Amino acid sequence: MAGLPPLELKDIQGDVLVGLSKKTEIFHFFQIKDAKAFKPQLKNLVPHITTADKATGEKEEIKRFRVQRREKVEAGDANTAKAALSIVGVNISFSHLGLVQLIGEAKAKEINDDLFIGGQKKDAKDLHDRGKTDGDKFTPAWDAAFLKDIHGVILITGDSFDSVSQKLNEVKRVFSKDGVSSITDVATLAGDVRPGDQKGHEHFGYKDGISNPRVDVSSLPKALPGQTTIKQGVALLGRPGDDVAFKVGTPVVRPKWALDGSFLAFRKLPQLVPEFDKFLVNNAKTDVVNQSTPNVFDDFPDAPSATDILGARFVGRWKSGAPIRATPLADDLKLATDELRNNKFRFNKNSQEACPFAAHIRKMNPRKDVDQETGLNPHLILRRGIPFGPEVTSQEKVTNSTQHERGLYFVSYQSNLANGFSFLQKAWANNSGFPIGTTIVPGLDPLIGQEDLADPKDVRDMSGYDDDDVTKRLKFDRRWVESKGGEYFFSPSIPTLSEVLTTATPS
Ligand code: HEM
Repeated sequence: MAGLPPLELKDIQGDVLVGLSKKTEIFHFFQIKDAKAFKPQLKNLVPHITTADKATGEKEEIKRFRVQRREKVEAGDANTAKAALSIVGVNISFSHLGLVQLIGEAKAKEINDDLFIGGQKKDAKDLHDRGKTDGDKFTPAWDAAFLKDIHGVILITGDSFDSVSQKLNEVKRVFSKDGVSSITDVATLAGDVRPGDQKGHEHFGYKDGISNPRVDVSSLPKALPGQTTIKQGVALLGRPGDDVAFKVGTPVVRPKWALDGSFLAFRKLPQLVPEFDKFLVNNAKTDVVNQSTPNVFDDFPDAPSATDILGARFVGRWKSGAPIRATPLADDLKLATDELRNNKFRFNKNSQEACPFAAHIRKMNPRKDVDQETGLNPHLILRRGIPFGPEVTSQEKVTNSTQHERGLYFVSYQSNLANGFSFLQKAWANNSGFPIGTTIVPGLDPLIGQEDLADPKDVRDMSGYDDDDVTKRLKFDRRWVESKGGEYFFSPSIPTLSEVLTTATPS
């Protein structure tokens, strides 16, 4: 596009295009107490920010480190092999209210995204979050912190809780002078990659982080088979593919300072794991399996249990990550870990024998159910979430009830919230009729689909859960994922962080 500077990874925050490497992540939500003091301090934060090119280098360093460690283990050098690699990342994003503090309301509104400007609290009712309606006023049943005004979030990632906590203290010192801080803490939330063989799996037990689109930037790794390359502007504001900026016949309506920024949708999503597991056991196909034996087919000792099959049909992948579209009857561990094959599939339009229409990954990325260029690609998001909370205890397993909060801190980046997160939740996950044009009504996304609680006709159910008769419907007894809050943020480019937000006088 004429007039645009070339895209440079050093100008973009690392979590957006590449993803910060993490075992642990802290989300520090804050309010700006003193904007005048905050601005020069923000400039001092910039050298701490992990840019996309730094994040790329760190990922390569981690790969090299792992190879070397494996070699050392093989050579019997156990002590050196134990050495850890410490990498800590920092990114910062602002809500609309935060931008208002820094550049004034008029300038902040130039960003031209109604959902961002309104904030997530205003969007909660349309997302079908639980809450109370009093006249025109809807108050979501969220954690108190998310009902407060939040101006920004600092993301700190790293290899251990100690290293990220230490970095957070360092960052807090950047925003403090003579013992007085320019920011107030709203909440500090910590997420962790799960331990042992559950590493990389979310709390229901399914491997996460397998499918993300590739952004069309030549310096980023090439697309893997089955991985969609999206236009730069689907992720970054102001670049080609950013619908708002490049609507045919309309002038470019993103301000210059928004270029190469991205909207961050944050959601705290607690998961009711024992309750989810119990539902799977209760609704697994009892006609073909004795619940006390793990396998459906006695003749095939590796065959999955009926419970595993039902769960896989909810998600669209086995717990290992293998897509059921490619391997519908049994898990395939080799396929699951083979990045050249584990995304190389498309759904069979108007057929849910191999994978239900409502399965989470089909709802969220309906490969071939809709037109790729116009119906799908503008809605692809970059996901960077992390689990939080402890492992399920034996008591919770026995009682089938959650006693300790756990779930997912969902994070996604997109150039347009009405095309990205908010669209996926409302138009696809919560919409029983999506994908459209099927002979059998698909139902809601079993993991995240939220029915309209004000409409008794809107039930949480799905078809296609039983591969022997995909017309049968299964009603879910509750929501197993219930939002406890979140916010929409803007993750500015490095030049905007250092040149615009630090200097502009509110208008
Ligand atoms: C606690 C809540 C959630 C859980 C447990 C969950 C779990 C999963 C799992 C296991 C996968 C498959 C792994 C992968 O493809 O990377 C996945 C994929 C995905 N999820 Fe979620 N998810 C949750 C919330 C959400 C939300 C809120 C959205 C967006 C509104 C979302 C969008 C996606 C997308 C876009 C994919 C990739 C689909 C594909 O490209 O094939 N998820 N999720």
